[in-house]
Amino acid sequence: MKETKLIEFKENGDDRGHLVVVEGIKNIPFEIKRVFYIYGSNKEVIRGQHANRKTEFVLINVSGTSKVIVDDGIKKKLYNLDRPHIGIYIPTMVWKEMYDFSSDSVLLCLASENYDSNEYIRDYGEFLKEVNK
Ligand code: TYD
Repeated sequence: MKETKLIEFKENGDDRGHLVVVEGIKNIPFEIKRVFYIYGSNKEVIRGQHANRKTEFVLINVSGTSKVIVDDGIKKKLYNLDRPHIGIYIPTMVWKEMYDFSSDSVLLCLASENYDSNEYIRDYGEFLKEVNK
């Protein structure tokens, strides 16, 4: 089974600033079909709270910070997204919750599939049932 993991991207930095490259298959494990980003959340908000049957993700806080809890049905893991060259890879069938957003947080989400609301599991009980099958 595929595991959630931290990905450290190369920072191409010089006196002009930094540039980070994310390329499908090359430094993340899938071709990117969809990009979305989350901003304007705050310390109180919890986002996500779902698992995906088909889609894999890489999440990168390109500005500000947030935290992500991932849960594969057996163990939970906490990731701090606190640098713009750090991402987390989230395979299918992982329950995820994003929270503790800084006011300047922009959370970039790269996805392996186009949006299909039917492949989202938004009920934790249903997730446990399916993941433990
Ligand atoms: P939602 O899945 O609730 O966001 P989060 O996982 O961050 O809590 O999505 C918010 C809204 O945006 C919801 O109405 C569905 C819609 N949406 C799309 O139309 N396409 C997408 O690719 C995504 C991720 C969400």
